[in-house]
Amino acid sequence: MVLLDGKALSLKILNNVKEKVSKLDRIPHLVVILVGDDSASKIYVNNKKKAAEKVGIKSTVIELPSDTNENDLLDKIQELNNNDDVTGILVQLPLPEQIDKNKIITAISPKKDVDGFSPENVGRLATGLEPYFYPATPQGIIMLLDEYGIKIEGKDAVILGRSNIVGKPMAQMLLKRNATVTICHSYTKEIEDKIKTADILISAVGKKIVRCKMGYKNSVVIDVGIHRDSNGKLTGDVDFDYVSPSCGFISPVPGGVGPMTIASLMFNASKVYN
Ligand code: GUN
Repeated sequence: MVLLDGKALSLKILNNVKEKVSKLDRIPHLVVILVGDDSASKIYVNNKKKAAEKVGIKSTVIELPSDTNENDLLDKIQELNNNDDVTGILVQLPLPEQIDKNKIITAISPKKDVDGFSPENVGRLATGLEPYFYPATPQGIIMLLDEYGIKIEGKDAVILGRSNIVGKPMAQMLLKRNATVTICHSYTKEIEDKIKTADILISAVGKKIVRCKMGYKNSVVIDVGIHRDSNGKLTGDVDFDYVSPSCGFISPVPGGVGPMTIASLMFNASKVYN
């Protein structure tokens, strides 16, 4: 069994991004908007800011109160869309309930949408047009698979979870690379049987869901989940000790997909379109 070292690859990618940024005529400027005081979101936003600083990307965090209304946030996004100094805009999710996240995501200029969540970027990915940005987590997973020489073409990929952030764009990106893709979700029957058919399993559910032996000894297991167990220890969707002896490659939590997501986001934030 080979451990997919996302930490090591993320450092390599961040170094490449840093070198690229140092040669740009214009310094990219990422603006991250955080609405409210969700504690996990604060940590994520802080990590993004620190990573941007490390690679020489200018970053600004705009913190707005939890009672911010939708129109005020839309106005702020419009202002950032029109500001030529700003090259990337990211609105941290989740948003407070009075704000419709789809309206907000739709308002971000596709050429500044470093998350790749806007309908234009999602539609571009789905139709086979090149999106301006690929969503960071799936893009980071593809980078990790490529780094370890894992072939995607012709493989059976099983994705657990159908979120707009991971599951759905992951499916599109794997399809683009000629995998056969199955997406499982809370209504899927006999998930374990589906898991066992996977050459590549990607779990993005947010709870301990994978506790079975893989069907093939060379199968690849990617764990996107990250949460704390009852002892406060960081853990993923996959029961690592139980599953790892049955597969060929596996990404750990922490040190797998998490650092790759940040590196992949910085790769996006270094792209300047306007
Ligand atoms: N919340 C959890 N993951 C993400 C992400 O990738 N982007 C944004 N904007 N918010 C998130």
